[in-house]
Amino acid sequence: MRVKELQLYNFRNYEKQNVVFSEGVNLFVGNNGSGKTNLLEAIYFLSLAKSYKTNDINVIKHDSEFSRISAITQTKKRNLNLKIIISSKGKKTLVNNQEIRKLSDYIGTINVISFLPEDLMIIKGSPKDRRYFIDLAYGQIDRTYLNELSNYRALLKQRNELLKKLSDENNPDITLLDIITEQLSESIELIVSFRKSFVDKINLFLQKMYRFLSDKDTNFVFKYNPSVSSNIETTLKSKYRNDLYLKTTNLGPHRDDYEFLIDDLVVKDNSSQGEQRIMILALMLAIADIINDKVNERPIFLLDDVFSELDSKRQNKLIKYLLKLEAQAIITTTNLENIQEIILKESTIFRVQDNTIREEYRNE
Ligand SMILES: Nc1ncnc2c1ncn2[C@@H]1O[C@H](COP(=O)(O)OP(=O)(O)OP(=O)(O)O)[C@@H](O)[C@H]1O
Ligand SMILES: [Mg+2]
Repeated sequence: MRVKELQLYNFRNYEKQNVVFSEGVNLFVGNNGSGKTNLLEAIYFLSLAKSYKTNDINVIKHDSEFSRISAITQTKKRNLNLKIIISSKGKKTLVNNQEIRKLSDYIGTINVISFLPEDLMIIKGSPKDRRYFIDLAYGQIDRTYLNELSNYRALLKQRNELLKKLSDENNPDITLLDIITEQLSESIELIVSFRKSFVDKINLFLQKMYRFLSDKDTNFVFKYNPSVSSNIETTLKSKYRNDLYLKTTNLGPHRDDYEFLIDDLVVKDNSSQGEQRIMILALMLAIADIINDKVNERPIFLLDDVFSELDSKRQNKLIKYLLKLEAQAIITTTNLENIQEIILKESTIFRVQDNTIREEYRNE
């Protein structure tokens, strides 16, 4: 999968910007605040129809009415013209100039895998951060999962509203609560099995990726901790009192968590910052392999400031790996000092400066 050409109009700091990417490694070099992350954000937006940072509306250039991201993308099957228009009224997604009204039909038209400084939150952050990340990663390759999640959310909302209502009553009639709990349990069972199989797949690649990047023989495992996974309906029904007391549903996929273990120790408390970056990177590369298995194509790699916490050995390992995959990678960095000459020759290099992107060297 590739993005061949990108056009930004009033997107973040770019008023009008055109970028023609090359097929392999694209390096964007610029000082702090020059607009490197904003460029990656635009490509991310193109794939997932949302920003990874903030509300959509923040991507609109200050004092502008709307933003437009247009791109020519290429998959093995076809070339596509993608367009997203973002305004205060909402967003519009178009494929080959035809509007796609349902976002879940648009998401995954092209796949990206991103590695951003804030991704450390997957280790350090809250369970919510981890769920969000996994849902997004998995959702872009499996629409049935996305649909089941939205079905679950709707049922959960209904159930919580009912709990609030019943908790105010002296002798609550739980007939309706039983029915919703049964429906919710079916949905939980599906989501838990989706998540389990995704995590199993991640672990097939994760260890290998981590050992390759870290040169260490340690056991690295990503673990899924569902809040409820067996006898779901019975368990939920046995917790009515607690749910009524707290006026909310206390078990289910919205309370699941994941954790990273290194030689059976919890990573969060036992690994250095740099090691954690390598772990996240290994996770991204593993997920990229899953995407490849699923859609038979490598996703586009978006790597933001990935070098800042990796030593030069690992920086070069990573780029060499990406070059070997023959995947398209879009990488930002403040400088090229540690990158080997032979890698630079194989990459296309852009300068980001004064709200403008200029091509400096093209490998063709
Ligand atoms: N909606 C917007 N309109 C105009 N400018 C914006 C908007 N949002 C962000 N900016 C500006 O874009 C600039 C570039 O931000 P960006 O995060 O892309 O920089 P960067 O090159 O990634 O920097 P760093 O190396 O520090 O990560 C910032 O100065 C920011 O103020
Ligand atoms: Mg940045």
